Order: sequence, then C-alpha cells, then structure tokens
Amino acid sequence: MKSPNLTLSILIILSITFISKPSHQVSHSPQTFPVNARLQKAYQALQAWKHAITSDPNNFTANWCGPNVCSYTGVYCAQALDDPHITTVAGVDLNHANIAGSLPEELGLLVDIAVVHINSNKFCGTIPSSFRGLYLLYELDISNNQFSGPFPSSVLCLPSLKYLDIRYNNFEGRIPPALFDLKLDALFLNNNKFQCSLPQNIGNSSVSVIVLANNDFKGGFPSSLAKMKDTLNEVILTNSGLEGCLPSNIGCLDKLTVFDVSNNKLDGSLPESMGGMKSLEQLNVANNGFSGQIPASVCSLHKLESFNSSNNYFCGQPEMCVRLKETDDRRNCIPYRPLQRSAKECAAFHSHNNLANCGA
Ligand SMILES: *[C@@H]1O[C@H](CO)[C@@H](O)[C@H](O)[C@H]1NC(C)=O
Ligand SMILES: *[C@@H]1O[C@H](CO)[C@@H](O)[C@H](O)[C@H]1NC(C)=O
Ligand SMILES: *[C@@H]1O[C@H](CO)[C@@H](O)[C@H](O)[C@H]1NC(C)=O
Repeated sequence: MKSPNLTLSILIILSITFISKPSHQVSHSPQTFPVNARLQKAYQALQAWKHAITSDPNNFTANWCGPNVCSYTGVYCAQALDDPHITTVAGVDLNHANIAGSLPEELGLLVDIAVVHINSNKFCGTIPSSFRGLYLLYELDISNNQFSGPFPSSVLCLPSLKYLDIRYNNFEGRIPPALFDLKLDALFLNNNKFQCSLPQNIGNSSVSVIVLANNDFKGGFPSSLAKMKDTLNEVILTNSGLEGCLPSNIGCLDKLTVFDVSNNKLDGSLPESMGGMKSLEQLNVANNGFSGQIPASVCSLHKLESFNSSNNYFCGQPEMCVRLKETDDRRNCIPYRPLQRSAKECAAFHSHNNLANCGA
C-alpha cells in the first residue's frame, strides 16, 4: 500500500515541480539566483524529499520552497570541490527534527554531498540505491530512526565514507563482510536486529571505534579483531550473543581504551595477555560465564580506571583489583569478598566445569 502511493505522489510532485520552476525563479528569487545545473538538481532532490515527508512537527522543511536551496533550513552549500566557481549542496543536517517520512531515490541527485545527518527522526524504509552515486559522502548518520530491512548495501559503494552510524533502527539479517573492507574511521551498528555471526574479516576494518552492541549475533568472539591493533580505540560488544573464550591475541590491542564485552555468554578465563592492553581505561566483562583467577597483569594496567567483573564465576583476584577507581566484583566466587554467589552455587559451577586453576 504505502510505497506505490508514495511513488505516485513523488511523480506527480516532480511534474508539478518541472512546470512551475521557471516562474519560481522569477517570482520568489529576484535576487541573483546562480543558475547552475547542480543546484537545479539539488532543488529537484530536495523537493522530492519534502514531498516524501509525512510529518514535520517542528517545521524544519517549511521554508523548503523555491529554487534557492542554499537558504533551506538544514541545507548547507559550499564551493564544489572540482570547481570553486560552482556553488553546490555539500551537507544536510536535520538532526532531532522528529520528521516522519522516507528517503526518495532523487536524493542521489545531490552528487556533491559530503555530510548527511538525519539522526533522531522517524524516517522509515531504507537508504535508496541511488546513494551509491554519492562519491563524496563522508559522514552518514541515520541513527535513531525507523529504518528497516536488510543492511543498506548502497553504503558499501561509497568510496569516501569514513563515518557510518545506523544505530537504533530496525535493520535485520546479516552484516555483509564487505562492510569491514571499507576504510571507515567509526562504525555504529548497535541496537538493530542483526542476526548472524560476525564476519571473519572484521579485523580488516580500519575503524578506531566500533559499536555492535544489542544485536542478536551468534558465535564466537571475532579473533581477527587483533588485526586492528594500529587503529582500534574502542570496542563495545555488550549484549551481542557472543559465546566461547576470549582469544589471547586480543592482548596486542594496545591502543584500546574501552573494552566492553558485558552481557554475553563468554566463558573461560581472562587471558593473561590482556596485560598488553596498555591504553585500557575501562574494562567490562560483567554478566558472562568467566571463571578462574583474574590475572594480575590486568589489574596492574596503569591506565585502568574502571573494571566490572560482576556476575561471573571468578574465584580469585589480586589485591590491586580492589584498589581501582571504580570496581564491581559482586556475584562471583571470590571467597574473601562481599556479595558473592553462594558457596553451593560456586561449587556446582566448579564441579560442572572441572576447573583446575581455582586454588584460592
Ligand atoms: C508549525 O507550523 C504550523 C502551521 O503554520 C503551526 O501551527 C505550528 O505551531 C508550527 N510548529 C512549530 C513547532 O513551530
Ligand atoms: C580481509 O579478510 C579476509 C579474511 O580474513 C582476507 O582473505 C582478505 O584478503 C582481507 N582483505 C583485505 C582487503 O585485507
Ligand atoms: C557492573 O555490571 C553489572 C551488570 O551489567 C551492572 O548491574 C552494574 O551496575 C555494573 N557496575 C557498575 C559499578 O557500573
């Protein structure tokens, strides 16, 4: 129902637009409107977008009329990169506008656009396939909307893309491995409905920040993450359905400041090698099935400020772990610490898992 109506209305709007444009230029813009082909295309794109908007409670697009697109709220013009004499649309920022609607194919006409920020709206549907032509698009933030369907594959074709934020939407299905071969700086996929195991090539990614939390991933911790040692600063994998052990090669991530794998089904012990994570400030392994002794190498990391180990089955930790700025070791099996699991619960776990290194 929805999409045919929408297409039809866009077609009608476009024909009206074409007919009325010359008179607009004369009547609404007596000031010298620089007639250049790119701004005319931008006009076509933005009018199509305006008509794909079903609700704009804060009137962001109320002044999206007439050919002077550079004066539209949220539309930013600049000199074209390939020709400084041409003014063109370089960015759109409609963050927090609470707009409902969709993104029309015509947005592909914004060929010089570098920045698209439309977070915190109610856009639905997906990213049009015409986006693959936006060869200068550098930052794309569509977070906190109602986009749905499979991963928007048009973003995989954007050669300039550095920052991709699609968190807090309803995307589902698998994440294409090609995403991790892009030369991105930051990637936010959290709070969607992705359901897959993480692609093996995740470590090919060049990002400094990656947040995959709150999806329904399955399978083991991605061991190729260690390949990102030269760039990776933050990794947040909370509530991502991960199981199995942490690979010891993560210890080589020495630029990492935040490592959060809380709320998964990870088990085994924390690798001794984590003492190599020299930049680590925040470590969160809470709510997993970890056990054994917490290595001294971890708690003696010089920059470590906060360590949450709660809700696991650790059976011992060096004294220095308790002296960190912020620490939470509740609900483990550490005999001399307060608020631990019952002796019975710990004994059951330990006999079941046949653990050797718990001579506390
Ligand atoms: C938007 O415009 C409508 C109609 O002009 C007006 O009634 C409404 O108060 C405006 N909303 C805001 C938030 O300015
Ligand atoms: C990405 O990773 C895969 C699998 O680990 C590898 O075969 C491929 O060559 C890598 N691609 C690049 C561009 O590094
Ligand atoms: C540690 O993690 C648990 C489980 O997610 C959480 O309830 C608790 O508030 C955290 N502790 C601190 C100090 O943040």
